Amino acid sequence: MAAAVVTTAVTASAQTLTEAQARAAITPWYVLFNQPVQGDMRALQEQVLTADYESCWGYLPGECWGREASIKVVGGFAKSIPDMKFDIKEVLVSGDRVIVRGEVSGTPAGDLFGVPHTGKSFRIMAIDIQTIRDGKIARTYHLENWLSAAADSFAQSSESRAEALARISVEPYGRASSSSISQTIGGSMKFGTIGAGAVALAFGREALARGHEVVLSSRRGPDALGDKVAELGRGASAASVEEAASLDYVLLAVPWRNVESALKSLPAWNGRVLIDATNPFVETSPKLVLADLGGKGASEVVAALAPGARIVKAFNSIVTARFNEGPVKNGGRRVIFVSGDHPEPTAFIKQLIESFGFTAIDLGGLATGGRLQQAGGPLAGRDLVEFGHH
Ligand SMILES: NC(=O)c1ccc[n+]([C@@H]2O[C@H](COP(=O)([O-])OP(=O)(O)OC[C@H]3O[C@@H](n4cnc5c(N)ncnc54)[C@H](OP(=O)(O)O)[C@@H]3O)[C@@H](O)[C@H]2O)c1
Repeated sequence: MAAAVVTTAVTASAQTLTEAQARAAITPWYVLFNQPVQGDMRALQEQVLTADYESCWGYLPGECWGREASIKVVGGFAKSIPDMKFDIKEVLVSGDRVIVRGEVSGTPAGDLFGVPHTGKSFRIMAIDIQTIRDGKIARTYHLENWLSAAADSFAQSSESRAEALARISVEPYGRASSSSISQTIGGSMKFGTIGAGAVALAFGREALARGHEVVLSSRRGPDALGDKVAELGRGASAASVEEAASLDYVLLAVPWRNVESALKSLPAWNGRVLIDATNPFVETSPKLVLADLGGKGASEVVAALAPGARIVKAFNSIVTARFNEGPVKNGGRRVIFVSGDHPEPTAFIKQLIESFGFTAIDLGGLATGGRLQQAGGPLAGRDLVEFGHH
């Protein structure tokens, strides 16, 4: 116990911020809330937040997000509450932590968190605990009293404040993040790929065609991927495996025998999403030989090698040559399956696949759904087409 106290003290003193340093790190961040930001919201946030930034308002899946999601959520506020203001009332500094008490006020211009409003302004308290690293914000724990805002701005005329509170006792950010998902699909996302072969390129082409960005990586390093980047065109780039794997959505598309080495020494996943496109073949040529997984599902094996990642299994059953022929076949839509244990990212990837023009079918969790679509499973390699749905 004594040793632990000493260690903490040493760590804290090594990273102790002055109040001026703390304010310099956090102020540009709060300015982002204060007006509909002119300029590039992404560039501004990338300046103030570390690449592995994490923002949490709870402990359940979906209650933490990374820098990419933060860019969407903060951008979303500028639209839904155009006169939003974050007034810093108090700043306390301890080591590398900064505690901020603020007052958030504004007038919703439309639904907030999917809840209709009445046009009235609100004023609520917010408390953030920020961790500062190298002058940037690395983590935010935050709580805002949105229920109070809900009572002020969203109570229907027939409702009392208490009734409005009861009605709006929803997971506000749960809704915010699902609406940020639809914005995301409409807007631009940046996907990393681990592997830059047939599957990564096929995925990349579709994502780029929808206005997203794609960062390819492979063992040979970014310089060796110049031709592939050029082939994909605008919005494509290459980076080290570590960099590509530090994005919020990362496609795993390496041969099965290399999955373990590819996932070794990557940045902590912290809930970021790993889209697992791998199939468990130990050999693919001259013939396909399935790996012996000892009864485990392939994505369960992957999940164990990427602790903290939210895994969505997708793109496994469709042969890449069929994927490259496009979503429409004989007037129907080709089917791509998704499986995952986390509803939010699974729904996100499902929407992404549908935005590519394919029919996406959610088969359920990794243990059951994953097995159905992985190599050796009943849906593997089938060119399935849906008629009449779209
Ligand atoms: N092809 C299909 O029809 C299809 C369909 C669905 C799913 N899949 C599955 O998707 C995965 C990828 O298939 P593919 O056809 O795209 O394979 P591929 O064309 O052989 O490409 C594999 C890529 O992975 C990279 N790579 C290998 N080891 C790596 C590591 N440790 N770290 C980073 N990158 C690494 C390779 O580049 P370097 O050698 O330069 O590192 C290469 O760019 C496989 O698991 C496959 O079973 C394939």
